[in-house]
Formats: sequence, C-alpha cells, structure tokens
Amino acid sequence: MPPLFFCFSARWRRRGGPWLKGVGSAAPGGLWRRGAAWLRSKLEGSDEGLLEAKGWGLALAGLPRVGSAAWGGEGVVPQRCALGEGGAESYHLPVLEEEVVAALQPSEGKRFLDGTLGGGGHAARLLAAGADVVGLDRDPEALAWAAGRLGEWSDRLVAVRAKFSSYPEILGGMGLEAGLDGMLFDIGVSSHQLNEARRGFSFLRDGPLDMRMDPEAPGSAAELVNTLPEEELARIFYEYGDEKASRRVAKALVKRRGERLFETTGDLAEVVGTVVPKRGPASPATRVFQGLRMAVNDELGELRAALEGAHYWLKPGGRLAVITFHSLEDRMVKQFFRRHSAAEIDRPEWAAARPNPDCYYRLITRKGIAAGEAETARNPRSRSATLRVVERLG
Ligand SMILES: C[S@@+](CC[C@H](N)C(=O)[O-])C[C@H]1O[C@@H](n2cnc3c(N)ncnc32)[C@H](O)[C@@H]1O
Repeated sequence: MPPLFFCFSARWRRRGGPWLKGVGSAAPGGLWRRGAAWLRSKLEGSDEGLLEAKGWGLALAGLPRVGSAAWGGEGVVPQRCALGEGGAESYHLPVLEEEVVAALQPSEGKRFLDGTLGGGGHAARLLAAGADVVGLDRDPEALAWAAGRLGEWSDRLVAVRAKFSSYPEILGGMGLEAGLDGMLFDIGVSSHQLNEARRGFSFLRDGPLDMRMDPEAPGSAAELVNTLPEEELARIFYEYGDEKASRRVAKALVKRRGERLFETTGDLAEVVGTVVPKRGPASPATRVFQGLRMAVNDELGELRAALEGAHYWLKPGGRLAVITFHSLEDRMVKQFFRRHSAAEIDRPEWAAARPNPDCYYRLITRKGIAAGEAETARNPRSRSATLRVVERLG
C-alpha cells in the first residue's frame, strides 16, 4: 500500500461541557496515537464516562495514484477508547477469530479490506501479522474505538467511516482495483452497540428506540414503528425476524401508536409482550427487535451490495470471508458463493451443461464454519455465527 497521509481536525468535549479543539494533522501515521495522548491529558483524574467528538478526517493514499477517503460527523467516543482501559474485549469479542486468520492468511505486505471494523479484533490480527488494512465502519463510535485500539499500526491502517456497500468508491479512490489479498465482512451488530442502552438496540436495556448503526442515517426504529403501514411492519417482523405472530404484533403497534407514539425500547418490548407468548428463555420481543434492526440498517441490502462486486477488488488467490449471524444472511452468502463457484450451469431445458460465465471463485468452505464448543462457552454470541470463504480464481 502506498504511504498514507492524514489530515485531521476535531473538537472534543465532556458531555455538556465546552468544545475543545482537538488534534491537528499527522503524516504518515501517528494520528490516533496523538489523538489518544491528547484525550488522556484532558481526562486525567476524571471519572466522567463519555466524551463527545465532532470532526473530520482525510486519509490520502500516496503515489502511484492519489485517492482520498473521508469520514466525518459527530459521535460519542467511549472514554475507555482514549485511555485504553477496560481491555479490547469490553467493546466486542471477535468471533471465529482463528478461523478468519486461517482463511485470510495475513502476512507482511498483504492488503485487506475489513468492511466491519467494530472493535477492531479481526483487524488487529491482520495488522499484527504485518498486513495493511483498509477498515470501514458506519458507526463513528466503532471507528473511534478501533482506530484508537489499532493506533500502533496506524501507518498500515486507513480507517474510514462508511457503509461497506460504498467500498468501491473508497478502494477505487485508493487505486486498489484487483489489489486485495482478502476482504472480510463480519455482519451485524457489535456487543458495544447492543450493550449501550442509548443506542436503542436492546430490549433488555431501556433507551431511545433508535437502532441505527450510523446515528446520522435517516430512519430510526421509532420512525419506522411510528410511520410504516401495518402490512409493512408485519412483513419486516415475519421476513427478517421470523416472528410467527407478525400480523398481531403489527396490529397492536398501530393501535398503540394511534394513542401515543413509541419512543423507547422498553415501550416497544412491553407492547410486543402483550401479544407474543413467551416461548422458552428468550424475550418475546427478540424476533421483533431483530427484524426491526435489519430493516433500519438495510442489512440485507448492504450484504447483497458487498458481495456483488467483491471479485473485482480481489487479486487471483485473494479470499472473501463473510461471517453472518442470521439464517437469511447465511442463505444469501451460501447461494451467492455457490452460483459463482460452479464451473457449469445445467438447466432442464438444455441438452447439456454449459460453462458458467460468472464463475470467478473457488469454494474454500463447502459447509459454513461454526464456532467450536470452547468459543461458544467463552462467547455465547458466537453460537449463531457462520463463516463462509471463497477464493478468487486466476
Ligand atoms: C460484528 S461487529 C464487527 C466486529 C469486528 N469484526 C471485531 O473484530 O471487533 C459489526 C460492525 O460492523 C458495523 N457494520 C455493520 N453493517 C455495516 C455496514 N453496512 N457498513 C459499515 N459498517 C457496518 C457495525 O457498526 C459494527 O461495528
């Protein structure tokens, strides 16, 4: 990867306090180390939980082609991020970490796209092996956390706040066509997103009914629940949440919003609980929240877009690894990988099978890889994870 130059400007404050001017620019690398040192000096002796940050950054990849990737906007940076306390695992514990490393085989000089930086766990393994990483996340908190955590490798990391469906613009700007040794998408939400009540993903913690991974994106969960037609809500709960009582839930929500609009996760969970019987240990609201989250963040649309063009960015021998947590998503990945790794297509109306013009992958995982017993015991969230991998043909 060509040398990277960063420009960075930000303002930081304790929640509700005055804005302070943040770090300036750094080239090459060192940006996040400087940012972290500055924040640490401001926070010394403080037990305040959160810092707010506003700012923008520009990462320029140098010759042979100068491109740029910008991220910006507002976010809330967990203090632990700047101070490096609490351990990386407190943000998110990566799933199938060893399996991802075995599949992507990172080493010095290799280049990867990590489309879902999250807590930076997978990216850390790629960087520690000497590889270069372009990391994306649409959540500014994840980006700040991951970039802070991965600061020691800042000369080999470009962290960009973006939806991963926009990777063609970002990679194209950096001149990386057919230049990647691997791409990773670890779809879904991070533990941090689920655990922070104010992000509104969890029915276990009362908070604003939000669920947006990018807090500046249009269409929070409250907006959807309060405005979508009943049939559309029912479709979302049924298709994305697999909720059998989807019609009854949608009806109850529409009735209730006619009296008072939904504002909080607790509010929604309570109304769902009045119509969905409790089956087993899980909350009756689990499937409704899951469906709503997928709709709010267009998770299937993002995955489809990420898969579609990936072969264009991979070198021959480069690998695409996708981790999913939902059967719909896993099916999409499985079918896509099969379709593009079959050498021939056979149709009943054809006399003989014909060569598949869209065969550009070799299947590395015939069956999806699931977490082993030790991992599921350590990290229950990994129980629903499936990893699938393909390799770009020459
Ligand atoms: C499961 S976590 C990734 C964890 C990460 N692999 C690690 O090792 O810590 C998923 C992350 O992807 C981000 N994400 C999900 N969908 C995204 C999308 N379409 N575009 C960009 N980021 C996305 C979420 O904001 C979240 O931070």
